[in-house]
Amino acid sequence: MFPRQNNQPNDFVDVLLSLLNDCNDSLDEKAFVIDRTNIKAVILDMIVASLDTSSTTVEWTLSELLRHPHIMKRVQKELDGVVGMHRMVDEKDLSSLTYLDMVIKESYRLHPIAPLLVPHESMEDITIDGYYIPKKSRVIINTWAIGRDPNAWSDKAWRLFLPERFKDANTDMQGHDFRLIPFGSGRRRCPGIQLGLIVVKLILAQLLHCFDLELPNGYATFGVGYEGDIWPCNTKSYSFNCCANISFAVLRK
Ligand code: HEM
Repeated sequence: MFPRQNNQPNDFVDVLLSLLNDCNDSLDEKAFVIDRTNIKAVILDMIVASLDTSSTTVEWTLSELLRHPHIMKRVQKELDGVVGMHRMVDEKDLSSLTYLDMVIKESYRLHPIAPLLVPHESMEDITIDGYYIPKKSRVIINTWAIGRDPNAWSDKAWRLFLPERFKDANTDMQGHDFRLIPFGSGRRRCPGIQLGLIVVKLILAQLLHCFDLELPNGYATFGVGYEGDIWPCNTKSYSFNCCANISFAVLRK
């Protein structure tokens, strides 16, 4: 392990460097040795998997809150109750922000960041719901369509941005409820789910605690958001970006 100055704890890169040229089984000729190229690839993987996913979640959630100012007000009311107006939001406040949790879930339901997740390969023959899926098939899960399926949600209300639908439901995003799997499910689901959700929630809470967000004059609320397309990787709320270029935030009084 490379010693760090001032007794600082080791970070992710320290741990990877400590494994440099390490062999997982010195008796096995084919044993895997971690070299600098592997380390660079792992770090790149982590950067790609964590940055855009988190920032795009924040963008989509803010887009929906701009379209639904009464929901933004409810989030701010919750923040005023939990945090008050005399200090900034802290990570320890997050567990008490239950309405914000529901808002984030609803945002993921309509705007999953990886609409088709990541392609998987089936390891064995299997029949699910009468559909035979042979071994070694490429399996693509359309979580975007599941989030908008009237059979999974409500016939009429699936189109609406309605965080309250999660109020009494025991729906988590850990992959147990297949109606809401923005981080995938099972052994290959996102390993960064905890970190990702903390970052997203903290950014949203701090922005909404400090700012009243509104559209510039003349912009109608229904114009925000981007409903037209599905992209195999990250979706973007394009028109939100346009609005963000114009100053729309006023510091809360
Ligand atoms: C907050 C937003 C995030 C979202 C919406 C998200 C979503 C996803 C999804 C859908 C997958 C594919 C799961 C599957 O194939 O079924 C995935 C994989 C992955 N994510 Fe995330 N992720 C987020 C944040 C992060 C963060 C913060 C990290 C790391 C620090 C991370 C690291 C990874 C890695 C390494 C994989 C590949 C796992 C594997 O192939 O076994 N993600 N993520």
